[in-house]
Amino acid sequence: MDVDEIRSDLTEVLITEDEIHAKLAELARRVETDYAGNPPLLVGVLKGAVMVMADFARELKMHVEMDWMAVSSYGASTESSGVVRILKDLDTEIAGRDVLIVEDIIDSGLTLTWLRANLESRGAASVKILALLRKPEAAKVEVDVEYVGFEIPPAFVVGYGLDYAEKYRNLRAIGVLAPHVYQ
Ligand code: PRP
Repeated sequence: MDVDEIRSDLTEVLITEDEIHAKLAELARRVETDYAGNPPLLVGVLKGAVMVMADFARELKMHVEMDWMAVSSYGASTESSGVVRILKDLDTEIAGRDVLIVEDIIDSGLTLTWLRANLESRGAASVKILALLRKPEAAKVEVDVEYVGFEIPPAFVVGYGLDYAEKYRNLRAIGVLAPHVYQ
């Protein structure tokens, strides 16, 4: 879906499809260098990371394996509580593996803090994080993120995997949702 289809639902386009792809290419070059000769296991966090994973993994000029987790945070639906429940676990045994978590967005940082600790406790050789977006002003905990695409203001963003009530995930760009949509 293109921005034109839902123009009035957005107050602005924050990041275009071309800008996303250019950034993922940039991050892919860094990952290729950092993991040279030692391909990581990419762990995507459902559902938001699907688009990032699909484009980032295809951009990489190296072999990678992909696995997926689905997690859900307890508490208010609009705000992370930091208490995380695994809805779908990895199929892969990660002891001794170099794991690169692939995320769409870091908001409060609570999900990623929990997830990294969880994967480290399984004996992974290393656990690093790639996130397309980060909202520094929304951080409740600082997460050490090795690969960040864009730092964005604490606005309600949708598109490229990010949803509002399960909609807009298939929007090609990332935009700020207009208040009339959710109020
Ligand atoms: C989003 C995002 C991260 C998490 C970040 O997922 O994909 O997993 O929230 O928030 P935090 O930094 O405040 O913990 P969400 O729970 O919306 O699920 P979804 O990916 O299925 O949309």
